[in-house]
Order: sequence, then C-alpha cells, then structure tokens
Amino acid sequence: MYMAQHPLRIGVDYYPEHRSHDLWERDAQLMQQAGFNVVRMAEFAWVNMEPEEGRYDFAWLDDSLQILANHGISAILGTPTAVMPAWVARKYPETLATMSTGHRVRWGVRKNNCFTSGAYRLLSERITRAMADHFASTPNLIGWQTDNEFGGPVCFCDTCRAEFQDWLRTRYGSASLADSTLDQLNGAWGTFFWGQRYNTWGEIQLPEDFSGHNPSLCLDWQRFNSWLNVRFQADQVHILRATCPGHFVTHNFMGLFSELNYYDLARDLDFVSWDNYPVGDAPSFKYDAATAADVMRGLKGKNFWIMEQTAGAPGWGQFGRNPRPDEIRQVAYQQLAHGADGQIWFRWDTCTAGREQYWHGLLGHDNKPLRRYHEAAQVAAEYRKLEPALANTTIKTDVAIIYDYESIWAFKIQPAYGSSLWDPSARGVNNYHNAIRRYHRALLRAGMNVDMIAPSNDLSKYKVVFAPHLYLMPDDLAVKLSEYVRNGGILVCDGRTGVKDATSLMHPRTLPGLLSDALGISIEEYEGLASDMSYGVTGTNGFTGAYTAIQYADWVTAHGAEVLAQIEEWHLENFAALTRNRYGSGYGYYAGVNVKEDAFYDALVKDVMRNAGISPVIAPPPGVEASIREGAGRQVLFLINHTEQPVTMRVPEGKSELITGTPTTGTLTLDRYGVAVILLK
Ligand code: GLA
Ligand code: ZN
Repeated sequence: MYMAQHPLRIGVDYYPEHRSHDLWERDAQLMQQAGFNVVRMAEFAWVNMEPEEGRYDFAWLDDSLQILANHGISAILGTPTAVMPAWVARKYPETLATMSTGHRVRWGVRKNNCFTSGAYRLLSERITRAMADHFASTPNLIGWQTDNEFGGPVCFCDTCRAEFQDWLRTRYGSASLADSTLDQLNGAWGTFFWGQRYNTWGEIQLPEDFSGHNPSLCLDWQRFNSWLNVRFQADQVHILRATCPGHFVTHNFMGLFSELNYYDLARDLDFVSWDNYPVGDAPSFKYDAATAADVMRGLKGKNFWIMEQTAGAPGWGQFGRNPRPDEIRQVAYQQLAHGADGQIWFRWDTCTAGREQYWHGLLGHDNKPLRRYHEAAQVAAEYRKLEPALANTTIKTDVAIIYDYESIWAFKIQPAYGSSLWDPSARGVNNYHNAIRRYHRALLRAGMNVDMIAPSNDLSKYKVVFAPHLYLMPDDLAVKLSEYVRNGGILVCDGRTGVKDATSLMHPRTLPGLLSDALGISIEEYEGLASDMSYGVTGTNGFTGAYTAIQYADWVTAHGAEVLAQIEEWHLENFAALTRNRYGSGYGYYAGVNVKEDAFYDALVKDVMRNAGISPVIAPPPGVEASIREGAGRQVLFLINHTEQPVTMRVPEGKSELITGTPTTGTLTLDRYGVAVILLK
C-alpha cells in the first residue's frame, strides 16, 4: 500500500503530445531548474496510446518519461477515459451518451460517454490494463489519476434505464426475485401522489428534469448516477492495484462540485487530489478555495494534493483576470496551509491549439520562462525549506461542519426557498452551499481551522459541530446529533434541518422533529421570503446587534431554549431568530433565519466558542487567514494576506519564521498577498 511521503511534491501538468519533440529536453531542464519534482501526464492521450483498437503505442510516453527521469522528475499518469478516441465512437456508437431528448451527443468534446455501455467499460478496462502492464516498472512513475474530473454526463439511454431499474430492485426488492414486489419502492417514493404507483420495475421512467418529477425518484436517480461513476472508477482502480501495488491511485476532484457523492468516490483512492482555480473574478478573500480545501481534506480525513492549480488567466473562449505578482504563490500557500502535500500547476505551457488556447499555463504561447514561471520556481525553493517542519503534519481542530451530498441533492431537487417561486435552476445547490459558507467564513475570520465531515463521521472528537441546512435526516442521524449534545457537544442547526427522511419523504412531525428536545424549540410554520422582503432581527440576552433576515424564516417558538435574537415584525413578535438550549451537558443552537450581515455569524461563532471553551491560537486581522498544521510534536502557523495592502499584526515572539529563516519579534508585516510560516513548536 502506498504511504504518504515527503518531500512535498511540486510540479506541473504536462502534455508532451501537444509539443514538438525538440522542446521536450528543454522542458525537462526548465522544470528541473524550477525545482519541480513531479508532472501529471496522459489523461487525454488515449488516441496517442491506442491509435486503433488493440494496437498500443507507448514509445512516445516512454521517451518523455525517460527525459523527465534524467532530470529527477517523477510522473503521475492519468487513465485516459475522459476523452474517447474517434474510433471508439465510430465503431461503438452506443458508447456516446444519450441526452434527455433521446438524441445521442456528438463526438468531439470531453466527458461524452455512457457509463453503462458495456463496450465503453470494456475498452476502459483494456486501456487501463495495457497502461498498467506497460508502466508498472517505469522507475519514475509514482502514481495514477483515474479518468479526469468525474461528474458527467447523465445518460438517458435504454441501457442506463434498465440498469437503473435493476439498481432499484436491489435496493427496494425482496431477496427472492421470484416474489419481488414493488411495495417497498412504492412506499418509499410515496407513489400514491399523482397516481404514480408502479406494478413492474420496467415501468419506472427516468426523470429528465428535476422540477416536475417525484422528488424521491429524482433523489434515487442522482444516487444511481453517482454510483455509476464510482463503479466505473472502481473497475480501473481494481486493475491498477493488482498490477501496480507500489503506486498510489488518486483522482482530481473539483472542490465544491456536488453532482457526485465524493465520499464514495474517494473511498477507493489513496488520497484525494483536486483542481483549484480561485483567480478570475475581482480580487477578494479566497474563501471558497479554503472551504473547498477543507471539504477535500474531509473526504478521507487526510491531507490531499492539488492536481491542477491556477497558473495564469483562465478561459476557454474568453479569459479572466491574470494572477497578480505573488498571487500564484499565495494560492499555493493557502492550500498548503489546509493540508495540500502535492501542488501541481495547470499547466506547463499555454496550448496553441484547441478549446483551451486561453487557459494560461506557467509558460505563455511564446514558451518563455517569464514571471509566472519564476514565481512558481520561488515557491518550489521555499517548499524545500518548509519540508522538514511540515512532515507528518495536518489540520487538527475541535470544530467541524457536516457536509452532506444527500442534502445538497435534496435542495437541488427542491430548493425550498429562493427569489422566485417557480424557477428552480441551480439555486437549491446554492442555498445549501451558502449556508455552509456563512459558518465556514465566520470561523475563518475567527482564526479557526475547520474539518468538513460526513454525517456518518464520529462526532465525539469535536467540541462544536455545525450542521447547516441538514435537510435529509434519517432518524438515526437525529438521534446521533441529540446524543452528541446530551454528552456535552455544541450543535448548531438552522433552517430546513431534519425536514426529510432518507427517501425524501417529509417527516410527518412538527419541526425540528427528533431534534426538538436537544434544540429546545418547535417550529409550526415557516416561509420563504421574496427577494424584495426582509425582516428586522435584534439580539437579546447578551447577544447584541441589529441584523436583517432574508430569504427564509422559521417561526421558532422556544420551549426551554434561551432566545438570543428576536424577529422584529408585528406578526412575528413572539418568534425567535436565534436560540440556545442547554441540553444534557451540551448546547443546541438554532438559527431560524438566513441573515444578510456577516457580523451576525461572527457574533454567533464567538458565543459558540466561548461556551465550548476554545479560542484560536491567533485572531487574524481582517483580510488575513490563519491556519495551523500540526503533528510529530510540531505546530506550524500559516498567515496569508488576502488583501492588496500590507498588513501588520501581532504574532508570538521568538519563534522562527521558516521562509525567511528569521526569528519573530512580536509584530509581523505581511506584504500584499504575502505569507508567513511560523514554527510555533
Ligand atoms: C479542468 C480540467 C483540465 C482543464 C482545466 C481548464 O480542471 O481537468 O483538463 O480543462 O479544467 O479548463
Ligand atoms: Zn447510457
């Protein structure tokens, strides 16, 4: 089994097949001069490796790998199944996905295959096996990336429909096929509504659009599609493990992308990698990159890699903002601070051909090693200095946020609230992510590290658990959360918590259902607020400030809970906006409204932390992010300036700042986009 290792891996995504052969030697020299020690390759090179069915050509890749090896550079190879060769589509047209309209997609873009096509699965296994056999003993090969950015497409062909019906039969049918009835499925999906009762498995249709179909059917369709991707990956992982036991296997995830259950996709891998592109819009605090990093670390509860990282202005048809001086470096350090042990820039050169001509790499179209290259080289040199302190360190924290794909999907299917009643679009996913963001950002501003965890995780190691918008709540989860509070945990819940059961039926109970005792409240009514509506909210009982409720309001009645904020409307004067309940030896908080102002969440986090008896090692000034990696008796503090002004702050005195190698004096100034790495112990 592959073991996590040091040195830190740092390098680029490299496509020798996009470049003339006379550049390969110079490429490797320049990478070596930059201090790079790894490249990822080949994830779109299927046709280069199997030009026609069953005829393999790995000579070019052997050649390139050898040149890289001569310069001390290791490689990760991608299984190339995200792009099918033209011959696959021509010989086996059923490998192309079918859209909901019934039309097959045309060949020529990426991610266009059907995941139940037997031909595609077989061809995928064959190229994976051929690569594994050929490269098993290539000395500088260290690992594999499965496919590229799993996530689609959703296919509506007859095979997918038949497999879906079969998948449902395993889930809801009885053990004996002979007397397998649909009673359980009909019950779980509530098919009494609109006369949807099924008599045979073959009657079950695919939901083309989530706004009109039965939410329970939609949820299982989403689960099924997630599982198809996981199964496809597992087939490849199986082959790679058997043939290349010394290599790691990873995949490049996409941060807050949520069409797949990433916990499931991560299970078969050694570690998670992800693709981080936080530069493009106007400069601001890179909150989402931090949130995504914590989600990515949470998938396996361990450090991760960046498989693709912003190296220049991003764009396909049009491009966005260029990373400013020191920003490539800042982006890398932010991820290192959250647990990234590998850091690979996308991409080496900027391609002169194809759809991504405007997705800028470290080199421009001119192939010259200019500013962005030099900045990456500086980072690589600095990483070498940091390695000893960072070995075997990760994030350890008392605070977790539950991040749940099933709830995300339930919101995708029924957003619950939003600006216009009849426009579902992608808003439901945003409702969920915005709820996560409100707490994660407040915790970041407070200088706290956060673990993002699955509902199934052990909660007992955390003093505080936030469970925003936990829409889908099987009874055993509600019991687990209540027990957590009773035993001394602090739980923070908010709107739409515990509304649905595991198959997306509404719990027939007064909200918050089985959490009522732990939270000390009841919610008999609730409402969505149109975009031109808001309610005043005022703090009470020591919780200060005046705020604005938007989007959503529970009408919360306290039964034993203390009211910390009140809704200020004539018809809601008896209802609470925020409550805190003593239950057992813990506290259950409930925020019944979405609040516009960050200050509300800052105050809430402060109250929670006070009751939990926790405080950050350092409270960062506005615009600065603090994160701590610890382990092996060491504690390493990262400070990252997200602003374009220098920021001066107080830091512990007499410690070593590892990048400059100088002792700290008690105050420290971070330049614009500046970073500091301080060895606390
Ligand atoms: C993704 C893909 C890359 C490339 C970049 C830029 O992250 O994995 O292959 O397409 O986006 O578009
Ligand atoms: Zn299909």
